[in-house]
Formats: sequence, structure tokens, C-alpha cells
Amino acid sequence: MYREEKASGEACLPAIDGFAQPTHDEAARQGYVAQMRKVIMTDMAQEMRAVYDGTVEPSVKAKTGDAPGDAIAVRKAMEPNSFYRFWSSMRFNAQEMVWGSVLDEVERELPKMIEVAEQAAKVSPAGGTLRLNPDLAIPKAVSSLDIHLMPGCFHTEFVKNDIAVGAIYARGTQVFSGGLRKTKNPGKGGVADSIAHYLRIKYPNFKPKRILDLGCTIGSNLSPFQSAFPDAELFGIDVGAPVLRYGHARAESRGITAHFSQQNAESMDFEDCSFDLVVSSFFFHEIAVPSTKKILAEVHRVLAPGGVTIHMELPPTKAMGPYYNFFLDWDAYHNHEPHYAAFRKQDPVGLLEEAGFASETCGLVRIPDRGGLTDDEFAAFAHGESEAPQHSNFSSYYLFGAGK
Ligand SMILES: C[S@@+](CC[C@H](N)C(=O)[O-])C[C@H]1O[C@@H](n2cnc3c(N)ncnc32)[C@H](O)[C@@H]1O
Repeated sequence: MYREEKASGEACLPAIDGFAQPTHDEAARQGYVAQMRKVIMTDMAQEMRAVYDGTVEPSVKAKTGDAPGDAIAVRKAMEPNSFYRFWSSMRFNAQEMVWGSVLDEVERELPKMIEVAEQAAKVSPAGGTLRLNPDLAIPKAVSSLDIHLMPGCFHTEFVKNDIAVGAIYARGTQVFSGGLRKTKNPGKGGVADSIAHYLRIKYPNFKPKRILDLGCTIGSNLSPFQSAFPDAELFGIDVGAPVLRYGHARAESRGITAHFSQQNAESMDFEDCSFDLVVSSFFFHEIAVPSTKKILAEVHRVLAPGGVTIHMELPPTKAMGPYYNFFLDWDAYHNHEPHYAAFRKQDPVGLLEEAGFASETCGLVRIPDRGGLTDDEFAAFAHGESEAPQHSNFSSYYLFGAGK
């Protein structure tokens, strides 16, 4: 029923992301939640910092002679503070409301979206592929809790060929970041777009032919890499079947040729030396450190000589002061992200070296969000003529990477 054909008779698909649309009231609720998150993460966060600087830190100093020296000490000092307790409870509730605000529209359109995804898997009009592995063991880091409080996490299937968590992620992340992104450069920006164009400008001779995105979820990183490197073949892996089905259907309807497969990044079925660029974003902080080490060793294996790997992650603990570390690590205690703080404590360059990358090729860099700058300003940054803004609400990204 949802199969469409072009005049030529060639199969094409309706856009899977066009189905779930909010009613008037749902849209109002989503706008409210996005703005509430903005207030919590900007105005209230600034006020909380002032409370810390003005009362909490001085009172610790008066008692002990020293300011809290790390994130844990700041957290201990802040936990009894009523402003922090109010802020933390607002933030937790806003996080739940993000997902809650999109559930109804996803539920209403679920049967149609599943049908489109099934059709995509059969006809793949853009020439991509979807390989699922029903026997794959879902890693505990994903299966044991709803990461960042998203109902169903990335893998749960409630009905046959389910895509619900893919749609919830797609719609929910728009609400999550909707109030916070600053756009000076419409249509540009976001992690993958910023990394891809940073690489393109800084290393004009680097032209990857095969690109792999680890923990690709619904494949949002793939189209920005395609626009920066139009000749590259795109691959995305994830452990969650519903997010992959959704991502594959979305890519196919957009005419993006991408190959999605359900695999654990700790042991991939790709051949040695088969990729020129391996990327990820918001991935490693959600898995345990021993898994991170196995995955980086796999990245080294699948990367071809001359290839590059680059990962966007939260700033390492060492790059930040005690207060900002406390602020960032909130997620580890209250947002079902138990590996978050442990990952941030690692030295990313050390992890790459341990995985087999030569020290002189490894590095850590902070880049600006491309949406927050004009094209000229972004190019000036990539050429080393300016600095990226400090890390805060999608203004810049920390990347770690290496070459083989
Ligand atoms: C926060 S999401 C990544 C978001 C995505 N990069 C984006 O920008 O939209 C983390 C993803 O990693 C996947 N994942 C977790 N552990 C994995 C593993 N061992 N192998 C492959 N994928 C994994 C999860 O299922 C989830 O989809």
C-alpha cells in the first residue's frame, strides 16, 4: 500500500520520517519542552554556577581550607543545595518529557512506518542494504537500562519488524536539542557535518572511498559525510535492529546509498583494511571502557593503511575544571548513562595508542559547530586561524582520532 512508483516505473519510497507529525497540542508541548530544556541548560545553569561560586565553594573552603578539587567533591558539596536539587529535578523531568512528548505521534503512525521500512528492505531503491542479525547478543550496556531515559533504548522490539525506537529517537532528539542550537548558517552544522567539512577543508587530499560509522543509530551521520565526500561508499553498524530499519528506510527515501548492518563493534565482520575513514559520535561514553578498548582495536584492524579514524566525544575530565566536570557528569548519575564519567576519565590518545595507532598520528582537537559560523569563519578555523568556542550546548565538539 505504501509502495510508490516514479513515472519510470522505478520503485521509490515515501519518507518514513514524514509520517509521525504532531497535532497542534503535541507541537505546543514539544515546543514547551524544548524551551524548558533551554532555560535549564543555559539560564538556570548559569545561576547554579553563581550559587556554587558565591556560597557552596566558599563554605567548603571555610570548613576544609580548600575548594572541592574534583567533580565528585563538587557533587558532594552541591547535593544538599536546594538550587541544585531543584535544577537536577527539573532536568530529569525535562529529559523524560522529551521522549514523552513524541510517543503519541509515533504510536499513531507506527503500522505505516513499519510497512515503509519493510518495503525499503525489499526494494532498496537507492541501492543501499540492510543486514540484520536476529542472533546478535545485545551488549549489556544497551540492554540493561533505557539509556538517557529513552523508553525502549535502541534495541527493544515490541511488534514484528518494529521501528518505534528509531522514530522516537529521530523525533525526540529534535525536541532535545531544538531550543539549544545556535544557527548562523542554515542547513549546516551538527556533529557529522562539522567533522566532515573540517576534514575536507583541512586535508583536501584526503578522499575516503569507504566510510564506516560505529553506533550509527538511525544513520544521521551518513548523509553529511556523503555531501562532503560524494564518491564514498557509506556503511553504518549498530546493535539495535529497530534503529537500523528506520535508518535504512530513511536513507533509501532520501536517495542516500548506505549499507546498514546489525553488528557489535567489538567484533565486526568486515575484512581487515577495508575502510579509509571510521567515525563515531556520542558513542563511546555509552559503553564500558573494556568494550571501548576492544572496539578501538577493531577500528585499527578494519582501517586501511593511510586511513583515518575520528570520534566525537564529551571532553575528557583532564581538559575541564572540577565544576564543569561535575556539571557534565550529571548524566552518569541521573540520566542512565553509567559509563559516562568513566569514559571521560580516560586519556583518549592513550586509548588509541593502546589499540595500535602510532603516537605521532594520535590527537585530540576541539572544533566549532559549523552551523554556528559562516563558511568563511569555519574555513578560517580549519586553516588554524581561529579557535573553537568553549564547549557548551552544541557550540563545539571534542574529537579524538588517529591515522594508520
Ligand atoms: C548515542 S547513540 C549514537 C548516536 C549517533 N551517532 C547519532 O549521532 O545519532 C549510541 C549508539 O551506539 C549503539 N551501540 C552501543 N553499543 C554498541 C556496540 N557495541 N556495537 C555497535 N553499536 C553499539 C547503540 O545501539 C546506539 O544506537
